[in-house]
Amino acid sequence: MYVNLKALCLLNVLNDGLNHSANSLAKHFKCSLASIHFLVSQLQKYNVDVVNIDGYGIRLNKPIVWLDTELIARHTLMKSERFDLRLFDIIDSTNNYLLSQLKRNTLIQRSSPVVIAEFQTNGRGREGRIWQCGFGNGLMFSLCWRFEKGVSDLSGLSLVVGIAILRVLRSYSIPNINIKWPNDILCNYYKLAGILIEIRGEVCGPSYAVIGIGINFNLSKSIIPLIGQRVTDLSSVTGNLIDRNLVLGKLLSELYNVLDDFAYYGFSYFKKEWISYHSYEGCEVDLIIPNGLAITGIVDGVTDDGAICLLTLEGRKSFNVGNISIRPRIQ
Ligand code: BTN
Repeated sequence: MYVNLKALCLLNVLNDGLNHSANSLAKHFKCSLASIHFLVSQLQKYNVDVVNIDGYGIRLNKPIVWLDTELIARHTLMKSERFDLRLFDIIDSTNNYLLSQLKRNTLIQRSSPVVIAEFQTNGRGREGRIWQCGFGNGLMFSLCWRFEKGVSDLSGLSLVVGIAILRVLRSYSIPNINIKWPNDILCNYYKLAGILIEIRGEVCGPSYAVIGIGINFNLSKSIIPLIGQRVTDLSSVTGNLIDRNLVLGKLLSELYNVLDDFAYYGFSYFKKEWISYHSYEGCEVDLIIPNGLAITGIVDGVTDDGAICLLTLEGRKSFNVGNISIRPRIQ
C-alpha cells in the first residue's frame, strides 16, 4: 500500500481531538478541499476512526498515543543494547520483515531485533488467518530471539510467550484476562491479543524464533465487523487509554525473562503458572481437530511440552497438532 505521508501529517493535526473545518485544513496544508477529503479517505483505509460530517467538520474519534522508541526503551528498564528497536509507520507485516532479514542473514547477533509498526498492510495470524488492527489502534510487533537449542526443543514456546503477556496485562488489574490454549489472550472470552511464532534454524541448533504479538488497545469502530470473531480492546475493558509505550517496555522486559528461563529450564518450569491462566481448565469442551472430528472431554492441564490434555471416556489424552479449536460445551 502506498504510504501517504500527507495523510499521516493530517492525522497528526487531527490528533488534538478538536473539530477542524475542511477549509481550515486545506489552508493549513495549502491544498484543495478535494485533496483534504482524499486524505481523510486514505486515513479511513488505515481504519482510523475519522469522523467527517458535512457542516460540522473533521475530527478524530479517539486520540492516538504515538509509539516512541526512546520511551519504549526507557520503560524496559534494561540496558539499551539488549534490544534493537525499529519503528515503522506502515509495514506489510512485522513478522515478514524479520523473517526476510533472517533469510538474508542481516540480523545483528548481539541485540534482539524488535520491529514495531503503527499499521500492517498484511498482518498475519495463526493458521493462515489475517490480523487486522487500525493505524495506531494496537501494539503490533515482532521480536527475533536466538536459541542455542534445536528447533524440536522449542515446543511450549508459544505458551510461554502467552505467560509474559498475561503477567504484564494482569499488572493493570484487569479482571478476567486468561489464555485459551495454545496462546489466544482473552478478556471475558473476547480476543484481546494474539501470538504468531515462526521458527527457523537447525535440528541441533541454533534456532531463531520470530515472535509476533498483536494486542488490541483502541479498535476503531470500522474494524470490529471486519475481524469476524469476538474481539475486545484494552480501552474498552479498562475505560482508559493505556500508553502503548509503557506496555511494550514492560512486555519486552518480561519476554526477556521468560525466554531466558525457557531456554534454560524448558516449558515444564512454567506449566503450573500456565494452567492457572487457562480459561477452560476443568471445563467440558469439544476439541475440533483438523479432520473436523470433535473430541469431548474435560480439560486437565497440559503436558511438559505444552500439549493440551483432555479426560475423555477413553482416558486421558493429549493433543498438540496445529489448527485445533476448542469449544466450551457451556459458557
Ligand atoms: C493470532 O492470534 O492469530 C496471532 C496474531 C499475531 C498478530 C501479530 S501482529 C504483529 C505480528 N506481525 C504479524 O503479521 N502478525 C503478528
